[in-house]
Amino acid sequence: MLLKILLGVLGCVGAFATETVAEQPSPPPQLLLVSFDGFRADYLRRFPMPNLKLLYSQGVLVEQLTNVFITKTFPNHYSLVTGLYAESHGILASNMYDPVSHEHFHIYNDSNPMWWNEARPLWISALDSGYKTAAMMWPGSDVTIGNRTATHFSAYNPQVTFKQRVGNVTKWMLGDEKDKGVMFAALYWEEPDHSGHIFGPDNDTAMSQVLKEVDDNIGLLISELKTTGLWGRVNILITSDHGMTQCSAQRLIQLDSCLHPDNYTLVDLSPVTAIIPLRDPEAVFKLLDKCHQHMKAYKKPDIPDRLHYRNNDRIQPIILIADEGWTIVLRGDELPRLGDHGYDNSLPSMHPFMAASGPSFRQGYQISSLQSVDIYPLMCKLLSLPPQPNNGTMTRARCLLAAESCWDVPLVIGLVVGVLLMLTAITVLFRYLSSRRPPGSRPFQRLQVDDDDDDDPMLE
Ligand SMILES: *[C@@H]1O[C@H](CO)[C@@H](O)[C@H](O)[C@H]1NC(C)=O
Ligand SMILES: *[C@@H]1O[C@H](CO)[C@@H](O)[C@H](O)[C@H]1NC(C)=O
Ligand SMILES: *[C@@H]1O[C@H](CO)[C@@H](O)[C@H](O)[C@H]1NC(C)=O
Ligand SMILES: *[C@@H]1O[C@H](CO)[C@@H](O)[C@H](O)[C@H]1NC(C)=O
Ligand SMILES: *[C@@H]1O[C@H](CO)[C@@H](O)[C@H](O)[C@H]1NC(C)=O
Ligand SMILES: *[C@@H]1O[C@H](CO)[C@@H](O)[C@H](O)[C@H]1NC(C)=O
Ligand SMILES: [Zn+2]
Repeated sequence: MLLKILLGVLGCVGAFATETVAEQPSPPPQLLLVSFDGFRADYLRRFPMPNLKLLYSQGVLVEQLTNVFITKTFPNHYSLVTGLYAESHGILASNMYDPVSHEHFHIYNDSNPMWWNEARPLWISALDSGYKTAAMMWPGSDVTIGNRTATHFSAYNPQVTFKQRVGNVTKWMLGDEKDKGVMFAALYWEEPDHSGHIFGPDNDTAMSQVLKEVDDNIGLLISELKTTGLWGRVNILITSDHGMTQCSAQRLIQLDSCLHPDNYTLVDLSPVTAIIPLRDPEAVFKLLDKCHQHMKAYKKPDIPDRLHYRNNDRIQPIILIADEGWTIVLRGDELPRLGDHGYDNSLPSMHPFMAASGPSFRQGYQISSLQSVDIYPLMCKLLSLPPQPNNGTMTRARCLLAAESCWDVPLVIGLVVGVLLMLTAITVLFRYLSSRRPPGSRPFQRLQVDDDDDDDPMLE
């Protein structure tokens, strides 16, 4: 007994000593952000994905992310790492024209910093806090943004396998004798987007094959993290940029059938078409406006607020938005792709998902939805970094974290409803009892006096 007390005292002293020695707070866990391009939210329900399920069963799952308009790869990948809507970060489409500089942007010729400089991705801003960072083929990885790049980066190269990309990323996270490991790494993989375009998301045979490959890659990532001792120590966040919907040759919209191509300059085509009218803008708009019942035409000032797609010079004077599954072409009957994305970001088929696990996350916790711009402030919180101005919020994302206490909304509603039902029942019972008393009697007194009155069935 005495020994125990002594040990206890020593333990306390020991704890006190280590507390005073540790003057600086320990650095937060490293963070690995992974994107599987074009991973539509409901693939998770349609296909087995055992490795991904293992990952989020030990962590958290957000079933659906509301991404940003337009629901294309570059705008959304930049939103994930900046927390900004496309109009605020400046990467607005796969093809852009800048009326100020007269430059053209295309995703295969994207390295002019001018396009990216309206924002700072996390792999750049984290450098300001003395962190090392890495960007592996994430859109913008190799671009000198604000005169800087990530500490380690690779330009997009489809020849490099997922295994090779993971090999480099884990090496960068581990660091070596002279270089500390990176605090933040972003890793990109082009599937299931690539196959989704070719086969269409409704092709179960093709999509189950490609999603098995994606899940195998997640398995490979987990085992690489385990081999290197990073698993369980780092936070890992797996997400995507957008979903995918089935297109059809029966759902084509031919622009040439509505107006002569001499009347406009085409900047981007489908599913969101960007047009600069020549000569008579009003006449051009009128023709486009009545062109097709499954395509909406907007003059720039009239683009709906909810799309957050108006306040930028690179948004053209007229945009056309195709309805889900419709494809805008110039002419002809040929369908360019069986699957596509880019449509209205309120469509569930355009939404991706998010899964995460690691020391900072709750375990086995799910929420139904989040905004994809919320992921940036979440990542800043995970890394203890001050977020830059952004369009996200921690309101809902907070609940994914182990250190936060959160009201479970369905549970709270359940409790409130339960309490109300109980109060109602008591009131009804009370009224019933009162109504059975002869006039003038006082129920309170009677209830107290006749506590054990067993001829009253209601009291049993
Ligand atoms: C890429 O863009 C630059 C301008 O930023 C342009 O000079 C060059 O010709 C473009 N290259 C291709 C292959 O389109
Ligand atoms: C980048 O550096 C150059 C000089 O090397 C400077 O003139 C320019 O303003 C810098 N740009 C940004 C965005 O910091
Ligand atoms: C990635 O790793 C391979 C070896 O697996 C190496 O040859 C290559 O240079 C690395 N790439 C980068 C960008 O460091
Ligand atoms: C689905 O994809 C497979 C390839 O995996 C292809 O052979 C088949 O024709 C496709 N089915 C349809 C209906 O497109
Ligand atoms: C469209 O172009 C055609 C051919 O150049 C021309 O005749 C017509 O007036 C133009 N219409 C408008 C609305 O600009
Ligand atoms: C998004 O955030 C940026 C940066 O704070 C801000 O300028 C912009 O007004 C925000 N957009 C909306 C719709 O709130
Ligand atoms: Zn994409």
